[in-house]
Amino acid sequence: MTDTLEFEPTAYHIKKSNEGPALDIADFNLWYGEKQALFDNNLEIQKGQVTALIGPSGCGKSTLLRCLNRMNDLVDDLRIEGRITVDGFDIYGRGVDVIALRKRMGMVFQKPNPFAMSIYDNITYPLRVDGVSKKSILDETVERALQQSALWNEVKDRLNDSALGLSGGQQQRLCIARAVASDPEVLLMDEPCSALDPIATARIEELIEELKGTYSIVMVTHSMAQAARVSDNTAFMYLGRLIEYGETDTIFTNPRKSRTNDYVTGRFG
Ligand SMILES: Nc1ncnc2c1ncn2[C@@H]1O[C@H](COP(=O)(O)OP(=O)(O)OP(=O)(O)O)[C@@H](O)[C@H]1O
Ligand SMILES: [Mg+2]
Repeated sequence: MTDTLEFEPTAYHIKKSNEGPALDIADFNLWYGEKQALFDNNLEIQKGQVTALIGPSGCGKSTLLRCLNRMNDLVDDLRIEGRITVDGFDIYGRGVDVIALRKRMGMVFQKPNPFAMSIYDNITYPLRVDGVSKKSILDETVERALQQSALWNEVKDRLNDSALGLSGGQQQRLCIARAVASDPEVLLMDEPCSALDPIATARIEELIEELKGTYSIVMVTHSMAQAARVSDNTAFMYLGRLIEYGETDTIFTNPRKSRTNDYVTGRFG
């Protein structure tokens, strides 16, 4: 393992799926005010696969994830350079409909955040905002999304109960159901299991396994074990730079950079 060029542009050693990248991040830089938080990030997210973003606290994982559906637009004094494209389409291009973009890029957060309304309404809310009112469509969407999030059997008899009465793990699966209700292309997950117990975590990991293929998944995680179990590809970030990106097995067993090795073996971070 050599570290000849500490911050050389990311080398790709990923077997590409025939369908090409779901997302292409190219020469991407980001500043919060004067402070640069992302430096020359280059990353192709593969379609239908799970990509884990790992790295020590403050390295920019959430910042990069939030750029993928323009959640960072809400931050004052933020500046970006570079491109992020979805199927060749520049998401920071002029005239982009950010609301429509966020539907293509469903997001699940660290802490389950169901709305204070019924289970049914949580899932149909985004459709209703879009003006969908036909009951058969809403019913079908609720059943499909809850089946996809492995929650249907647990809640099918209590769809009108408050979502806040669900357990933490069920709430997180409901948030995943809400994200898949609008049938996105990509699911962005920022430490989706960190507020959950081991059993609820295992359910979410199984779910991620089932959902990949249908959706391309980008997941931030602090758990090396989780990244190793769940992801196909792993990107290791350090101080805002993408140090190494590759197939998860390679990153964990035979990384090219010594810094990656130190992190995945728990020597720092
Ligand atoms: N809204 C903001 N305004 C200013 N600086 C920010 C903002 N959000 C994040 N930062 C800074 O950008 C850097 C990257 O933060 P980010 O939250 O992306 O890291 P992270 O890798 O997700 O960390 P963690 O693992 O702790 O969640 C940090 O130095 C952080 O302090
Ligand atoms: Mg974070």
